[in-house]
Amino acid sequence: METKDPSTLSSWKELQEMAAGFHLDLRKAFEADPGRAEKLTFEAADLHVDLSKNLLTEKVFEKLLELAGQTNIQGLLEAMLRGEHINNTEDRAVLHLALRAPEEKVGSLNVDGQDVVGDVREVLERVYAFADSVRDGSWKGVSGKRIETVVNIGIGGSDLGPAMAYEALKPYVQKGLECRFISNIDPTDVGEKTKDLDPETTLFIIASKTFTTLETLTNARAAKAWLLAGLREAGAIDESEAQTKDAIAKHFVAVSTALDKVAAFGIDPKNAFGFWNWIGGRYSVDSAVGTSLAVAIGRDGFEAFLSGFRAIDEHFRSAAPTENVPLLMGLLNVWYVNFLGAHTHAVLPYSQYLHRFPAYLQQLTMESNGKRVRRDGSLVNYETGEIFWGEPGTNGQHAFYQLMHQGTRLIPADFIAFARPAWDLKDDETEARQHELFLGNFFAQTGALAFGKTVDEVRAEGTIEELVAHRTFPGNRPSTSIMARELTPRVLGELIALYEMIVFVEGAVWGIDSFDQWGVELGKAMAIDLKPAIAGDSAALAATDPSTRGLLEYYFANK
Ligand code: F6P
Repeated sequence: METKDPSTLSSWKELQEMAAGFHLDLRKAFEADPGRAEKLTFEAADLHVDLSKNLLTEKVFEKLLELAGQTNIQGLLEAMLRGEHINNTEDRAVLHLALRAPEEKVGSLNVDGQDVVGDVREVLERVYAFADSVRDGSWKGVSGKRIETVVNIGIGGSDLGPAMAYEALKPYVQKGLECRFISNIDPTDVGEKTKDLDPETTLFIIASKTFTTLETLTNARAAKAWLLAGLREAGAIDESEAQTKDAIAKHFVAVSTALDKVAAFGIDPKNAFGFWNWIGGRYSVDSAVGTSLAVAIGRDGFEAFLSGFRAIDEHFRSAAPTENVPLLMGLLNVWYVNFLGAHTHAVLPYSQYLHRFPAYLQQLTMESNGKRVRRDGSLVNYETGEIFWGEPGTNGQHAFYQLMHQGTRLIPADFIAFARPAWDLKDDETEARQHELFLGNFFAQTGALAFGKTVDEVRAEGTIEELVAHRTFPGNRPSTSIMARELTPRVLGELIALYEMIVFVEGAVWGIDSFDQWGVELGKAMAIDLKPAIAGDSAALAATDPSTRGLLEYYFANK
């Protein structure tokens, strides 16, 4: 696959020239062009996206679109849609878009001899049938009780997506059902999340693409031991092999690409939901990896979730470049990272339901684009990968916004908010709608970042001279505002797909493989190699480096 060094392109060089000494005064930009907000506000499906408070001029906008053309983002998208192996380092197709393809597309995409959409729909139907049976109580635990708690055990892409989406869609969760998510190999996680559960009404979903992940398999075994001990103690089963097998069949299902390994773990393959190696873990929330979510919000909710992804896919494929929101947001990020020197990117949802969204985006963006070599292995000579981070507003305002408003760093930020609240509370004392107080903060913060407060304004307030510098806000701090009417399953799907495409755009410009993750391998292998040393084998201990040895010795002295 051809790899371009983007820094050799004419548009890149011209952007570099534009960036040298670049200063955009946003107050003046809005004064000079009263139509700026309107010109730079776009609709993508149900998302209303205002880019006007970004450090963007018409010339930069044009040049970024030229860069998109010269790096052939469209060509990469088409290759992806044809099922070409654009994940070239793993020799795999990249087809998460097929996860949300509509029923009519069955048979339309054959990749490596597989009817991709047909396979997707077949698994989805099985997931829905399972979800229905848990929701209507026809799926029974071994003692005949209905399931009340579904515990997903997985990590990374097999955890963050469903955990984030479950939290985001709490108002859509069926009453009487709860989902929990165990990911960390820290025994605290499995211990705390099972300690108050009744094994007779608990069902585990073991989600692992590879079914080899140390954390997930260790936690799955811990859950199995907990379940069997609890059921035996309650007299629900005896020690016999038949009853043990029956209990596992009724309390464990799996999601994986490795169905042979699922069977070896003891889970009945008829209770396993497959996916495929053309779905990356961090792109899998809308596959069977979302089974816990499908149980929680049901078939209709999950289909609405998929329709949101689909709507943004469609927008990305068909909107003109000048109005293509994921394209423009991806290019803006490139502008900030490669030309204006930003290192991080804040994501600030003004929705408590989205409190796990920044963590979800960290894997999506950083595992995808945290690469220092291009597709052909050549080293890049420019920055890649942004550090995504964030917290819901208004909490972040009382924590790290100080640095965003008055610190020395450039931090582009995405603010996300919804017009309609799930909880419409009124403050008895002030008569104010709480949601309006909340949204007031959302509207105010992007304005304060962009327009700041000048020295003259601070002086005019009668501020003593010694404090004028401290109370001045420089402004010109960029942000994007994303709004939607309401946080529904569909809108959540749209938000996720929006960021998937932004990541795609950035990766395409940088010429990297956004779909592999070799950087996670070394630490995993070293943890396994260290097992004998941790267990006290002196030869293994002696073979470790002096720093690790010192830490292990501290551990031995204090355990
Ligand atoms: O450690 C990285 C990773 O491979 C992620 O890419 C993946 O989402 C996660 O581990 C979990 O992997 P699996 O689903 O195979 O258990």
